[in-house]
Amino acid sequence: MTLARWPAWLFAALAAVIIAALLTVPGVGHAAPALLSQGRAATASSTESAAFPASSAVDGDAGTRWSSAAADPQWLEVDLGAPHTLTQVVLNWEAAYAKAFQLQVSSDNSTWTNLTPVTAGVAGSQTLTVTGSGRYVRMYGTQRATQWGYSLWEFQVYGDDTSCNTADSALNQPVLASSTQDAGAFPATAAVDGNAGTRWSSAASDPQWIRVDLGSVRQVCGVELNWEAAYASSFQLQISTDGNTWSNLTQPAAGVAGNQVLAVSGSGRYVRMYGAQRATQWGYSLWEFVIHTVGAPPTTTTPPPGNCPWVKSTAPIADRVNQLMAAMTNAQKVVVLHGNGATGPYIGNTDPIPALCVPAMGLQDGPAGVGDSLDGVTELPDPTAVAATWDVNAAKNYGTVMGQEFAGKGANVVLGPTINIVRDPRWGRDFETYSEDPYHAGQTAVGAVQGIQGQGVMAQIKHAAAYNVEGGASRGTPSDNVIIDDRTLHEIYLPAFQTALTQGQAASVMCAYNQINGTPACQDSAVMNTALKQATGWDGFVGSDWGSATGGAPQLANGGLDMEMPGGAFFGQALLDAVNQGTVSQSTVDDMTRRVLTQMFKFGLFDHGATGATGAVVTSAAHTQVAQDVAAQGSVLLKNNGVLPLSTSGLKSIALLGGDAIDPQNIGGGSAKVNPSPAAVNPINGITKRAGTGVSVQWVAGAGEHVQTPDIPSAVALAQKSDIAIVFASYGESETDDLASIDLQFSQNDLISAVAAANPRTIVVLNTGSAVTMPWLGSVAGVIEGWYPGQENGDAIASLLFGDVNPSGKLPVTFPRSLADVPASTVQQFPGANDRIEYSEGMNVGYRWYDSHNITPLFPFGFGLSYTTFGFSNLTISAQANGSATVKATVTNTGSRAGAEVPQLYIGQPAANGEPPHQLKGYQKITLSPGQSQTVTFTLTPRDLAHWNGAAWTTNAGAYGVFVGDSSRSLPLTGTITVTTAS
Ligand code: BGC
Repeated sequence: MTLARWPAWLFAALAAVIIAALLTVPGVGHAAPALLSQGRAATASSTESAAFPASSAVDGDAGTRWSSAAADPQWLEVDLGAPHTLTQVVLNWEAAYAKAFQLQVSSDNSTWTNLTPVTAGVAGSQTLTVTGSGRYVRMYGTQRATQWGYSLWEFQVYGDDTSCNTADSALNQPVLASSTQDAGAFPATAAVDGNAGTRWSSAASDPQWIRVDLGSVRQVCGVELNWEAAYASSFQLQISTDGNTWSNLTQPAAGVAGNQVLAVSGSGRYVRMYGAQRATQWGYSLWEFVIHTVGAPPTTTTPPPGNCPWVKSTAPIADRVNQLMAAMTNAQKVVVLHGNGATGPYIGNTDPIPALCVPAMGLQDGPAGVGDSLDGVTELPDPTAVAATWDVNAAKNYGTVMGQEFAGKGANVVLGPTINIVRDPRWGRDFETYSEDPYHAGQTAVGAVQGIQGQGVMAQIKHAAAYNVEGGASRGTPSDNVIIDDRTLHEIYLPAFQTALTQGQAASVMCAYNQINGTPACQDSAVMNTALKQATGWDGFVGSDWGSATGGAPQLANGGLDMEMPGGAFFGQALLDAVNQGTVSQSTVDDMTRRVLTQMFKFGLFDHGATGATGAVVTSAAHTQVAQDVAAQGSVLLKNNGVLPLSTSGLKSIALLGGDAIDPQNIGGGSAKVNPSPAAVNPINGITKRAGTGVSVQWVAGAGEHVQTPDIPSAVALAQKSDIAIVFASYGESETDDLASIDLQFSQNDLISAVAAANPRTIVVLNTGSAVTMPWLGSVAGVIEGWYPGQENGDAIASLLFGDVNPSGKLPVTFPRSLADVPASTVQQFPGANDRIEYSEGMNVGYRWYDSHNITPLFPFGFGLSYTTFGFSNLTISAQANGSATVKATVTNTGSRAGAEVPQLYIGQPAANGEPPHQLKGYQKITLSPGQSQTVTFTLTPRDLAHWNGAAWTTNAGAYGVFVGDSSRSLPLTGTITVTTAS
């Protein structure tokens, strides 16, 4: 008899009986084999590395795998949580499968019974029917098919599980609704969050539905609807395998205010409440929508991509963010607004939200490459060396290496670059930042940020703003209070940040430890909201420094901070409380969340799963080559009486002196410290290799930062009998400590003077993070400032000494003759006193100070020699009434070697504007062969001639000087731009 021949009335009556029976006897019927292993605890005899954990074989993601060590035997075991009758096991092998293995089961995790005889694996998927029961199931591999370990994409254990599980299978699963009354207050997710105090409410119209995705087809055996007062007077429960075609689990039923328990039976992946008629004038409103299934509930580990409509969607990012945010509760929003407090895998970590496919984020130091003690990385030169190249492309190459290495380590955010202004040569972090000039710092930052972000990793530029003193233990305490006028803040300390956001499109900014005129930087709305967000239209997020979020959630959130690191003292429950109390508005929390999510979408975090691993080796020959190139191009030749470049012809002996020749200061300390790779080369090795077998290269320490007992006479003796003496001297810097002096320490000045007295062909190589004094300058033949040159130090310095590379670096900071000459020479200015750090030098920072006070520096900003010479000619200026101008100048290589020069353009404002005499507004690095000329073009806008008037940038009418040359103190070409239309 077929159904078609039954009378309709009989069919309906029978159906009603069946449904009635189902309503009273939950979970009847024989369920299909259930996947018992997914998301369960898995263990293994070994793992190849942390990147291939046992859990990857039971995570439902066929793109991640467990791999064992390469030895026999090995096993992978899953704990099903309770005893089960088993029917089937699926092994999804990677290429490294088992040539021989057994499936085994145990009820106590100690005595094992074979489920299969010894079986051979196959690369690919292998389905085995089994008979047996127990709680623990394992694959026990006795022989590998390859030289690798055992490797399983997935290990699936199926069994006959017929009970209707009392756990809630809908809990935290992806959910969608036809509408919400208010996405912020009543999102669909509130109905599956396990919290009967939050609810979904629809718009006030019929019909409306709410749909839960169980992740895979499952036997549904019960539903509970916990209605608010606004219930459905008529609804149906429906089920679907594809989310499109629905069949009814219930006939139309009436809701009841309160909890309604329904026994149902059906199989499918999606379950929905379809409301046809509301009982009140309001929408449909559910406190909770609970679903019971046969077998364990779905795991809440990351669902495979695609379960959330905003994942891998081609919709515009703003739409994807809106879509996701509509599904988020406030409790979920704050998860992306703070770190989880863990110190691994990265120095900063946010938690994932598996139910919404929101991935975790990893933030890692820092500005000079992958830091925080990870190995297998390239120790790049310090950022000062990058700035000293005066070459945006070099900064970009450096950033590209960083981006590749951070991506390879699986980090999503680089905590860097550091772009704070070098206000004083004693700051312990000078080595990790760029320049004393805001334009130069900004352009270098743009190059580095573009390089980093071009590799799919976010850059977090730091530390906003006016953070220029460590002050030892006083960092971040009440005494770390910068007193600064608004014009100086806007003209000197903010522009590099703004440029990195607008031109560089940096994803993120870190706010600093210090206070700005009594307001903690991470609460400073004038900086974060006004200057960084509103003035630039930037859509990224501000993160705190580690522990720099202080005060309270309202002060921080309303001040413009978006993400707290490393924990959630303020942006976890405290932020939720603040929203409930009305001290932080819903729209502020939404804006914070939107900023973080926007960048996560932009950088593909939702579309590609986690990439890279902290244990990966990410350094490479190409990366160490960039390290060497930047070290060489950033080194500045400060003096040369003709001794350089060295030639091996006729050269018999070189004396290397100083502890730094063998144990060099390649990088500074703190969060910018990077470990070297095994390829690192010290000066002794680099110079010996380059000098060749015909030259004797000998070394005596003499003195140095790490030399316990100075022995200057031995150094002198070696220098005396050598053709050339090269003294390596350094000054180490580190985060949290400022330098006490700018004079070289540990008898290094004595060593240099003594060696220079013994050998007229003495060359000094300095490895310092900023300016130092040079009392011996008049008696040495040559000086190269190499900054902290990174792990390729030896090869880089050898290439410069022997002229394989023609020096082209320029100083990014002024070198004063003595500490008394620096702009912040009083203790009130640096490091500060009485809870105040007075920025009383105002805009006169760096060369602006030396120029406006007519102080002759030891070496000026922008200065650097070459083994060739250059001439400047033909200045032409074509300007408009508002000051927009095109400036051209010709540069000629007047010497006999190819080399690179950096024409620099400075503007002098009319005296009435009250600005320092000269301000850098353009530069370019060009390479010229002997005799070659090139015309460079600079484009100026009215903003380049403007000053901050307290509320906006103003360009006054008047005559503006134009100066072009090769340093801030050598400007042979001069002209004028006359502004007649002020703006
Ligand atoms: C530093 C930051 C660094 C952070 C994480 C702080 O102490 O100031 O620059 O990114 O630590 O290591």
